[in-house]
Amino acid sequence: MELDMNNIPQHIAIILDGNGRWAKSHGKPRFFGHREGARNIATVCKAASELGVKALTVYCFSTENWKRPEAEVNYLMTMPVKYYKKYKAKILEAGYKIRFAGRRNVIPKPLLAVMEEVERETASNEGFTLTICFDYGSYEELTTATKHIASLVAEGKLTVDEITPSLIESNLYTAGLPKLDLLIRTSGEQRISNFLLWQLGYAELYFTDTYWPDFHKEELIKAIYDFQHRNRRFGGLKEAK
Ligand code: IPE
Ligand code: IPE
Ligand code: MG
Repeated sequence: MELDMNNIPQHIAIILDGNGRWAKSHGKPRFFGHREGARNIATVCKAASELGVKALTVYCFSTENWKRPEAEVNYLMTMPVKYYKKYKAKILEAGYKIRFAGRRNVIPKPLLAVMEEVERETASNEGFTLTICFDYGSYEELTTATKHIASLVAEGKLTVDEITPSLIESNLYTAGLPKLDLLIRTSGEQRISNFLLWQLGYAELYFTDTYWPDFHKEELIKAIYDFQHRNRRFGGLKEAK
């Protein structure tokens, strides 16, 4: 599968789904899939950056995932802390800028401390940005942005006519990232589950049955290959390739 290196999507987002089912298919408890899924983020980051992708945004915990059993939620709030302690040197060595998107006020303190440390340590890195969406939901993102803009208007710092799409964009967690080109969802589900509703405006969508822990470089290449054979018109007209 030969990729056109002049047409690599700049920004890819992934709904990394299927950790639980992957674990089940291996006769293991769900948390086993989450651990393997976390490891796979590193694998796919490496592949994406090698292919020339500039930004990768991954959906790891939604504002709705708090509904899961307490033991699973606890695992998802503590495993990343252990993961960071274990792989800190490797994570920092990779040279990516790592940021988190989502609410910060409900996340347990030890995890929040790690998130802030990672952001601080990688803030001046350039070239490849990994955005980890954690306690993220589009409804929350758009509500928070709306409240902020409304308060600026109420304080007389902004007029209603100054509210433009780019102003809205600058109030989202993804501000400053390249436009989203491609959304991938693993595990066979074909829905958005409250992810990047605004940013998806003109992204191409790609669904695969592969469970997230099995989605490696070859699968990413397949998704990009598919993307390169889409006819992106953005509402205009363009000859079919
Ligand atoms: C995705 O895997 C990771 C999270 C949402 C935390 P799931 O945990 O949703 O796995 P399935 O969909 O139950 O297999
Ligand atoms: C979406 O997956 C959220 C993340 C991958 C973090 P879910 O497994 O929570 O989504 P639904 O419940 O199948 O829509
Ligand atoms: Mg799921």
